[in-house]
Order: sequence, then structure tokens, then C-alpha cells
Amino acid sequence: MLWSEYSLCQEWSLSKFVPVAGTVPAMLPLRIGSFTPAAPVVLAPMAGVTNAPFRAMCRADAPDLVYVNEMVMATAVVYGNDKTRRMMTFGPDERPRSLQIYGSDPDMLGRAVHRVCDAGLVDHVDLNFGCPAVTRRGGGAAVPAKPRLLRAVVRAAVQAAAPYGVPVTAKFRMGLWDHLRTDVETGLICADEGVAWIALHARTVEQHYSGEARWDAIGELKQAVDGIPVLGNGDIWEASDALEMMRTTGCDGVVVGRGCLGRPWLFADLVQTLTTGVPVTTVPRLGEVLEVMVDHAEALVELHHTDREALRLAPAEHAVHEFRKHTGWYLTGYPVGPEVRRRFAMVERIEDLRSMAGDLDPQMEAVPGAARTKRGHTNGPRPVHLPDRYLETLDDLVAPREELMAVSGG
Ligand SMILES: Cc1cc2nc3c(=O)[nH]c(=O)nc-3n(C[C@H](O)[C@H](O)[C@H](O)COP(=O)(O)O)c2cc1C
Repeated sequence: MLWSEYSLCQEWSLSKFVPVAGTVPAMLPLRIGSFTPAAPVVLAPMAGVTNAPFRAMCRADAPDLVYVNEMVMATAVVYGNDKTRRMMTFGPDERPRSLQIYGSDPDMLGRAVHRVCDAGLVDHVDLNFGCPAVTRRGGGAAVPAKPRLLRAVVRAAVQAAAPYGVPVTAKFRMGLWDHLRTDVETGLICADEGVAWIALHARTVEQHYSGEARWDAIGELKQAVDGIPVLGNGDIWEASDALEMMRTTGCDGVVVGRGCLGRPWLFADLVQTLTTGVPVTTVPRLGEVLEVMVDHAEALVELHHTDREALRLAPAEHAVHEFRKHTGWYLTGYPVGPEVRRRFAMVERIEDLRSMAGDLDPQMEAVPGAARTKRGHTNGPRPVHLPDRYLETLDDLVAPREELMAVSGG
């Protein structure tokens, strides 16, 4: 189906994405309570990245989208610590407040969801069933292989959130391997249990981040799951990719991860592109990029200043160290040379970051195709590790022991 076959209107609305003819199921709107995003776009949760300062950069020119906080573990929410509390920080004007919670034990996850809802901390909870790091213990992306356990986990979260009117969504991968696909069954279970939308990272766990995301799986999931929006995720580097993903798969919206690393203005491109149907790619000159970079670093330093635990660890330096990875992403595509990149990647103090930024040529332009340069994780494929005899017990309800899992990412 061609994009021109979709009826476009001035503002994004459901009708805009409804296919005029054809067999693609009708597109469904994304909603969180009374909030309808300006375009069907969600920031993918990224551990160690999508905290409040990063989201503030993304929201600057595209405030009305759904930006999901970095993942927190259910056990850490229930037992509480300073670091987890800092990780659950939202901007004062940030709505909706979307939090991803990771948990594989129904009881623990239910308690965590109850806690954040009851404290009035969130407007939306996203569940992570795509994390490849803890399959060895039966957690994360291993859970969808156990449909009964998955159902119990989802049910616990939805039931805990329901009294507060907080919608629960779920994000997962295609399966463990190609020969153990679980995406459609996971989607059906989530829909059945009252999840508000589902998002598919179109790779298996084995693939990790390698190769291209397999968008055909997103189309298959959309065909299979009725009644709730199906979002596609994987390899949206420019806004035109989002248009293409929606056009080719019929999905109801997109979840965008690595493409916005060092390019938070991607979200403004996405709103413009999806509301007009005309693809735009903003590639600022280096001076503008550096301004955003420094603002971002300063916001991170400020966040750490409010954190009592980090304060004991010299907050400014801690924040600047945490920020180092972002410098490489912001400079991606600008021909500043390896020595400059190396100095940014070793930066110790916010003052040094400012002065190093001041030394660069603000008029410098990015090389052609810079926006598409892959960033963030690209590793894989990787062998999938599971607990002993896991595949022989897929029907049981045994949850992994949460306290054994220190997790980072999906
Ligand atoms: C640094 C990093 C951290 C991530 N952390 C999480 C996470 O905590 N939860 C999650 O569901 N996915 C996580 N992911 C996966 C992304 O949300 C997303 O599914 C994946 O990057 C594919 O989308 P993309 O091609 O747009 O990046 C992470 C990815 C990266 C690169």
C-alpha cells in the first residue's frame, strides 16, 4: 500500500492513518487517559539513557509525545533505595509520566506497580519482556516463552494499576530464536489481559542488536492482534523510516530508540513528518548540537545534585562521567577528528565540557548520511542462555528469583 493511499489531514488524527482501502487492519489511536500524543511516537526506554534530562532534550521541540523513562526493577521499587528514586524522576511539567518496570515475578511486579501508582508517581507503566541480559536466570525475554507465567505477570500489573486508572503497556521481542517465536502469543495474551498497547522490537533475543530489524514481524503482529494498538520498534534512524514502517506494516505507531541518541530533535522531525506525510531530517550545524550537548550535561549534573546518594560520590563528576557516552553520540557524523572525540569521551568536569565545546567550529556541517550512522548497541548475534531444563517446563508458573537479577536494558 502506498502512503498516498492513506488519507492525510492537517493535524495527526486517527483518520490520517486509516488505510483508504485494502486489507490492512484499521489503525488505532494511542492514548494514555485523556492524553493523545501529537503523533503516534514513543521514546523507547533505554537503561542509563532515557532519564529526565535526556527526555527534556527530546521534549524541547516535541513536548506532546510519550517518552518512557529508563527501566527500574520491580524489587528495587518495592524495597526502595535512593538510586531507584532518582531514576524515577520526571520533569515538573512532564505528562504523561511513563515508567518502564522490569519484573518476572507476578507478586513482586504487582507490588511495584501498586506502589508507584499509589504514590501518584506515574501516568503510565510499561512492562519489559525484551531484556536479553537475564534469560540465563529465566527472566526478561525468557518470560514470554512461558505463556502461563507471562499471563500471570501481565495480569498482576494490570490489576494493580487499574484502580488508579493507569494504563499498562508491554514491550517484547520476536522470541528467543527463530525456532521459538513468541511474539504473536505474547501480543494476544497482553491484549486479553487488558494491556493498552504492545510494542515489538523486531529482533529475536539471539539476534540481540545485530542485522536489520525484521519489520515483517511487526506487520504479522498487527494482523494477529485486534483491539489494541500495535507499535513497531527497530531501526528508525530518520523520520522517513517511521513513515515507511507504518506504511509497510500497518502498525499503529512507532517506538524509537537509538536513532535519537545524540539527536533528540528526531522527535520534532517525527511529529512534522507523521503529521504532514512529508519526510524531514534535521541535521544541525555543530554549534547547535554542542549547545544541546552542554544543556543536557548541565541538566544531568543538576539531577545528580538532588540525589543524596550520588552527592556522597561527588555529584558533578559522577554526572559528567555518566554523560561521557553521550558526547560520542552528539559528535557522530561531524568530522572533528579522533583526538577531539577521545578528549570528550574522557571529560571530567562540566567546565571542561563547556570549554571544549567552545573550541570547536560552530559552523561545521555533518557528513552526508550522518543521521543514519548506527549508534548505541549494535552487537550480536549471541547465544541464548536459559536455566537448566527451561524448555521442558514452559507450562509452569515458576517465577525466577528477582533478587538474582541485576539488569541493564532490553
Ligand atoms: C542503551 C540501550 C538501553 C536499552 N535499555 C532498554 C530497557 O531498559 N528496556 C527496554 O525495553 N529496552 C531497552 N533497550 C532496547 C530499546 O528500547 C529498543 O527496543 C532497541 O534499541 C531497538 O530499537 P531502536 O532500533 O530504535 O534502537 C535498550 C537499548 C539500548 C541501545
